[in-house]
Amino acid sequence: MPVYSRDCLEGQGVLITGGLGAIGRVVVSRLLAVSASVAVNDVLPEDQAAREMQAAGWDKARCHYLRADITQPAEAQKLVSEARARLGRLDVALCHAGMTVSCPILDYSSEGWNKILDLNLKGAFLVAQAAAKTMIAQGARGKIVFTSSWVQDVPWPEITPYNVSKSGIKMLMRGMARELAAQGIRVNSVAPGIVAVGLAKHQWDAEPDYRRRAEKAIPLGHMQPPETVADAVVFLCSAASDYMTGATLLVDGGCSLYPMN
Ligand SMILES: NC(=O)c1ccc[n+]([C@@H]2O[C@H](COP(=O)([O-])OP(=O)(O)OC[C@H]3O[C@@H](n4cnc5c(N)ncnc54)[C@H](O)[C@@H]3O)[C@@H](O)[C@H]2O)c1
Repeated sequence: MPVYSRDCLEGQGVLITGGLGAIGRVVVSRLLAVSASVAVNDVLPEDQAAREMQAAGWDKARCHYLRADITQPAEAQKLVSEARARLGRLDVALCHAGMTVSCPILDYSSEGWNKILDLNLKGAFLVAQAAAKTMIAQGARGKIVFTSSWVQDVPWPEITPYNVSKSGIKMLMRGMARELAAQGIRVNSVAPGIVAVGLAKHQWDAEPDYRRRAEKAIPLGHMQPPETVADAVVFLCSAASDYMTGATLLVDGGCSLYPMN
């Protein structure tokens, strides 16, 4: 079935963490557009999530909100079992939630370090592990996709704990891919560049120094549309990527062609 056709994920149950974030909501819209059923996790209260999902026009029959803090082991496990129950089956887990804070390494607190590593790395591990167990228990092949970043291999300044977390995701992804291949579970990452949302967009618009540095860092010369991340995620969910495991799909406008000039 061609990738990006309207029904290329028909009948597939997909869980996404951080699905109401800036990139996450674009990914969810794209998943629904290709006929997936989606369990959307985030930490927003139920009523706020319901309003946002209605405003996005998401089909209630194929889209379910599951509130959970994925840094808590019990909540992460419950999230995955609820996702399977709501979707009927869990075919894909998108370990997508993540955060960063811009701060020179000399000023980073241990609390700041813990917060970033807890969400970006431990939370991703907890959900991926629970998802893999569920996929094995349901006897079906499955896919796990981590949202990494081009900085998994590049020391972009003032977000060092974030860079460390994404380097960790790279090895977590490769390790899980190696260990789970025999069960037919494919594990890959998508690595975006500097996406035109949130903190990066704010800094691009408001901080001339940041913008100068970022413009030099993006060989294609402009910020990344979030839709390009969503397209890569759909590809990694789809049958078109069935022979991939242990891979990072860089979709970064060339940012990883570091060092910048
Ligand atoms: N924005 C970029 O330029 C960029 C570039 C490369 C990679 N990424 C990655 O893409 C992903 C999404 O980034 P974004 O810019 O959309 O961020 P975002 O902050 O807009 O979205 C993150 C979402 O995660 C949710 N979340 C926070 N803590 C959580 C928890 N404990 N449990 C469950 N959900 C939680 C937040 O509520 C939010 O909705 C992250 O993994 C990020 O590292 C972003």
